[in-house]
Amino acid sequence: MASHARERLIVALDYPSLPQALAMARQLEDLVGYFKIGSQLFTAEGPRALEKLARFGGIFLDLKFHDIPNTVAGAVTAAASLPGVRFLNMHALAGLEAMKAAAEAVEGRKSAPRLLGVTILTSHDERSMKRIGLSGKPEANALRLAKLARAAGLDGVVASAREVGRIRRACGPEFVLMVPGIRPVAANVQDQVRVATPGDAIRAGADYLVVGRPITGAPAPTAAAAAIVAEIGQAMGKE
Ligand code: C5P
Repeated sequence: MASHARERLIVALDYPSLPQALAMARQLEDLVGYFKIGSQLFTAEGPRALEKLARFGGIFLDLKFHDIPNTVAGAVTAAASLPGVRFLNMHALAGLEAMKAAAEAVEGRKSAPRLLGVTILTSHDERSMKRIGLSGKPEANALRLAKLARAAGLDGVVASAREVGRIRRACGPEFVLMVPGIRPVAANVQDQVRVATPGDAIRAGADYLVVGRPITGAPAPTAAAAAIVAEIGQAMGKE
C-alpha cells in the first residue's frame, strides 16, 4: 500500500491528442503518483503516448479489455510490455475464464503490472443495468464480480466508493481497490452516477483514486490536485 497521499492519486488524461496530455502531465508531475491513459488517448496516439508520458509518473493503462479468453490474454500480454505500465485492466464481465487467462498471461513476468477487473462502471445505476439485463443493485453486482475477479487471480478491481467497504471485507487487505467517480464536494457530477468525495472514498477502503475532470477541467489544475492530495492525506490519518 502506498504510504504517501500523492501515490494514491491517479489522474485520468482523457484527451484527444498527446500534446494536451503532455501539457497536463508536466503541470502535475510533482503532485500525483500516476497518470491514466484510456481508450480515447490510446486510440488516437497508440503506444507512443506511453513512451512520452511514462517519464512523468507510473501509467495506468485503462483499456478495459472485454473479449474471449485467448484474445484478452494476448491483449494483456501486449499491454504489459508497454513502457511504464503499473496497472492495467479488463472487464470482470468478460467472465472467469477470460480473467484466469489474463492473470496467467501476466503472472511471473518481471515487474508485472497489477491486473484489475472493472466491476460495474461508475456511470451505471440500477435502472441502466436493468436495461442490459443485469438485475439487482450495482453494489451487489460489483461485490459478486469482485469475488469472481479474486477467484480468477486478479490483483484487484475498479469499483465505486459505495461498494469498496464490502469488497474490502470480502476480498481482504491485499486486494487492490481502485475508485473512479470521485467528485470533491463542490464539483459537477457530469456523467458519473455513483460518486464520492476523495476523503469518503479513502475512508471507505480505496487504495487508489482515479480523478479526471475535477482536476483536468479545473481553472487551476495544480491547485485542484493539491487539494485532493491534502484531503487524501487527512483521510489516511483517520483510516
Ligand atoms: O473525469 P472523471 O473523473 O469522471 O474520469 C473518470 C475516469 O475513470 C474516466 O477516464 C473513466 O473512463 C474512468 N473509469 C470510470 N469508471 C470505471 C472505470 C474507469 O469512470 N468503472
